[in-house]
Amino acid sequence: MTRVFGVMGFPISHSLSPVMHNAALEALDLDALYAPFEVPPHHLGKVLWGLHAAGIEGLNVTVPHKEHILRYLRRADVTAQAWALGAVNTLVRRGGRFVAYNTDVEGFRRALAEELCVDCRNQRVLLLGAGGAARAVGRALVSMRPRTIYVANRTATKTARLVRWLQQCSPSGTIEAVVFDREGLAELLPRIELLINATSLGLRASDPLPVDPATIHKRLVVFDLVYRAPTTSLVQTARRRGALAVDGLAMLVYQGAESFRLWWRREPPIAVMRRAVEHALRKNVHSP
Ligand code: ATR
Repeated sequence: MTRVFGVMGFPISHSLSPVMHNAALEALDLDALYAPFEVPPHHLGKVLWGLHAAGIEGLNVTVPHKEHILRYLRRADVTAQAWALGAVNTLVRRGGRFVAYNTDVEGFRRALAEELCVDCRNQRVLLLGAGGAARAVGRALVSMRPRTIYVANRTATKTARLVRWLQQCSPSGTIEAVVFDREGLAELLPRIELLINATSLGLRASDPLPVDPATIHKRLVVFDLVYRAPTTSLVQTARRRGALAVDGLAMLVYQGAESFRLWWRREPPIAVMRRAVEHALRKNVHSP
């Protein structure tokens, strides 16, 4: 019998997950399909358990449901990491229930290690942003034991909250809040080895760069969590200035790969998944 997986979001038509997972299923010749489900927030609980009753084997959960889904799950069915993050992006059917995971932390860690070959032990890292993505990235970073994580975000209260939370996760590492302004960041950047953009800046072509391009140096590694075709302005600028840089496609692929691993308990075909999302992104750009 064909096994069914899917992703719930609102809206969902822009999601690259169906293309990515269906390519993986096809490449491994698995009798399964992965479908998008557009679920308005007020229907989330009903649709979740309706899909369970219909026999769905696994789900990804995306914007805006990652946090709200928790209210429809039992605490015992949520992994410690997803609970600590307050966000779920993967559900795995286990009998009469769903077990809830968050693969963003591991997705980021693997993308960093495998795409950028970065080991941030003893490094100075600047994390821009303090939303859901920054929280997952910050959680991954503390486990890699960098020397210092500097956090900068437009809204200072959110910076302070994220810094406090990360300090609790890592009592030994240094985690500092810095002001999100061009001059302050320009002074800090020469001392930074890894820059991560976890803000939404760059989603629109008209967005300014989050940092002054003149401060991007050759020893810097840049991970922009935003993705667009062919890539983001931050990544283009960083590469022009001799820095190593990747965009958020890497994170998308690796968090999806970790979901795949949980559902199928086998090695995900990363290269196939990456090619599928790259192709879909390029097609979107060129379509009217
Ligand atoms: P995600 O789940 O992708 O992290 P989010 O939780 O909405 O999304 O977080 C978006 C992040 O981008 C936040 O850090 C936000 O800053 P605020 O906390 O000040 O809202 C940041 N962001 C969004 N638009 C921005 C802009 N124009 N300039 C700087 N930061 C911006």
